[in-house]
Amino acid sequence: MTDKEEGRIARLNAAAQDAVKHAQARYSHFRVGAALETEEGKVIIGSNVESSSYGLTICAERVALVKALSEGITRFSAISIYAEKFDFCPPCGACRQLLYDYAPDLTIYLTNGKQYKTYRLKDLLPLAFDESQLKAQ
Ligand code: THU
Repeated sequence: MTDKEEGRIARLNAAAQDAVKHAQARYSHFRVGAALETEEGKVIIGSNVESSSYGLTICAERVALVKALSEGITRFSAISIYAEKFDFCPPCGACRQLLYDYAPDLTIYLTNGKQYKTYRLKDLLPLAFDESQLKAQ
């Protein structure tokens, strides 16, 4: 990997770690930050936002995605995820599905602030449901 590529990933991971400071996690105390990178290299951050009606909680990854989409930003290359209390926190099933709907070729970096692990969303959501099933009707 080139130094430029390593630098890009390091910046994205740092943005995810930084995003955790905005986490609204007063019920679980499990604070998560995410940084979503567009194909043009722009970074949109998100943090988890919890509700006293627990099921309304939104994960950091979906906050970042919805922020971007609602601003007309629709093409993504990677997302980095950081959790304060857990090394290499994987995205939940709901986030995998929504990310897949908008960015099936996404690269996922899980970071603990010091190291990171790299995954492909396609590998984390095999046999994904998507628009092709809807079109087949
Ligand atoms: N959470 C995330 O924000 N992202 C994940 O990848 C896993 C879980 C949040 C949701 C909830 O606020 C807390 O972590 C505990 O589930």
